[in-house]
Amino acid sequence: MKKGLCVTHYIRHALCPLLHAPGTLHLARTKQSPIPLVPLTKALIMKNFTSKKLIFLLLIATGLSACNAQGKSNSKTGSVKATSNFNPDVEIKMTAQPVSMQLLDGKKTNVFHYEAKLIKGKARNLSEIPGSYLGPVIKIKRGQKIRVIFKNNLPRESIIHWHGLHIPPEMDGHPMHAIDNGEQYVYEFTVVDRPGTYWFHPHPDKITGPQVYRGLAGLFIIEDELKGLPSGEYDQPLVIQDRSFDSDNQLVYVEESPMQRMQGFLGDQIFINGKKNLTQNVNKGTYRFRILNGSNARIYKLAWSDGSELKVIATDGGLLEKSLNKPYLMLAPGERVEIWKDFSDFKPNDNVTLESLAFNSGTSMGRMGGGGMMGNMGGGMMGGNSPGRNGEAMELYTFIANEDKGKSLEIPQTLSQIKEIEPTKAVNYDSPKQFHFYNERMNWVINGETFDMEEVADWEKVKLSTTEVWQFINGDDGSGMGMMQDMMQLPHPAHIHGLQFQIIERDISGMDADVWNSVKDGFIDKGWQDTFLLMPGMKVKVVMSFRDFTGKYIYHCHNLEHEDMGMMRNYEVLP
Ligand code: C2O
Ligand code: CU
Repeated sequence: MKKGLCVTHYIRHALCPLLHAPGTLHLARTKQSPIPLVPLTKALIMKNFTSKKLIFLLLIATGLSACNAQGKSNSKTGSVKATSNFNPDVEIKMTAQPVSMQLLDGKKTNVFHYEAKLIKGKARNLSEIPGSYLGPVIKIKRGQKIRVIFKNNLPRESIIHWHGLHIPPEMDGHPMHAIDNGEQYVYEFTVVDRPGTYWFHPHPDKITGPQVYRGLAGLFIIEDELKGLPSGEYDQPLVIQDRSFDSDNQLVYVEESPMQRMQGFLGDQIFINGKKNLTQNVNKGTYRFRILNGSNARIYKLAWSDGSELKVIATDGGLLEKSLNKPYLMLAPGERVEIWKDFSDFKPNDNVTLESLAFNSGTSMGRMGGGGMMGNMGGGMMGGNSPGRNGEAMELYTFIANEDKGKSLEIPQTLSQIKEIEPTKAVNYDSPKQFHFYNERMNWVINGETFDMEEVADWEKVKLSTTEVWQFINGDDGSGMGMMQDMMQLPHPAHIHGLQFQIIERDISGMDADVWNSVKDGFIDKGWQDTFLLMPGMKVKVVMSFRDFTGKYIYHCHNLEHEDMGMMRNYEVLP
């Protein structure tokens, strides 16, 4: 069965609107193109720009003629009813719906919002962030059972993914379980993960980016077992996102701009915790900030404006063994990091800003700005308003000390116990699976493939109760279209569903020195992770164990536009 014919998503999104009625969905999956292209061998991808331009024109022309692919995602209804013998400690009804909110001065903004209601549990299990477009903060203890009844009142299909949690495949929000408008999906699972900052967001095939962008995301906090950490108002989430608005205060997304879509959405305004207010008063005490990069594509290089070090206490999968001091921190979309900040020495009105420093993202699309293929071809399509690139400096959030003295705390010597997975125990220690993330003919691919709802390649199969090493590589395996790929290099935040892993190697031998030097002190390769930043040319090895559940999970690039363009695949845990 042929599912799609379009040569590239890029071309489809650039040109298909001209060929299809507005609102038509492009659900085609790009596989190896069946269209007889000019043999695009390396020999043909020649030495100068004139020839490259020619190839690009050929691609566009072929794309145009093949732009008729359509399909319907095979959405199943999944679990629609609550199970009678499942007795939850916490039960929440969560409805995703369009609402309009006062986000800026003047006109209200149309957003999507997770409206939540506590059906069973204690008040602290569910809280809203007042005035925010973001969904609720769910707080729960390890070992507790939760039921979430998800109702979709959005115009399009959706499903919730619990990012970072170790839960069965049917509970994980695989796009195959997406439900249509008016339907509901019931999640029931036991929380088994370590205390920490997890989150949830939509995961429908090809439209995750726009749904998250419109406001659908929330926090899932597994509560501490350790005493002596900042608590109550001293324990705060900081969800960082970037947005763009038109003159009517409405959100602007990338639909109209293929080049923006290609690099991922980058907004020109920072929102913290779903609000435009970028300052906060703090007491002269010790705070714990749970930072989530909830942006679609923007990467932050976090630092304090006064030059003090960031004291890191936790990563994606919870507390580190010991705190770490960092001059700055790289935080890619999907990642969490927790920092400790003591304002005890501040005088009233003293302030400090959490900033994102400039860095070199290694984006080769960017380098082509002035001339060359993208400059000439892309310029018109980008339509004038191109917000800053990944890597530009920006201020994020300012803390201003007030008169009140807060509680001052010391970081506990030992924060948690981390059981290291011994990599040599991996069944494939000597020959790790390799996952190449790169651009091929204007598609974001993993090992040359894009997402297919059901498909699992041999190299994506693992066995239950085994440990494996996977190596992620930003770049092709050298056999592809070298030049084309090089012209489209971007950072990719890699994320694996259903588990936490440990990073065992970050190989920078293939990286541009300037890129590496601008980010090198910002990585934390300790503790548990579910998402990590893969810079151009970088190779990262992770080790993980596949436990408890069999079935299909996904792994993908957490640049949400890349994910929507198909930079996502299934892996399957076999019995
Ligand atoms: Cu947070 Cu598959 O994603
Ligand atoms: Cu990507």
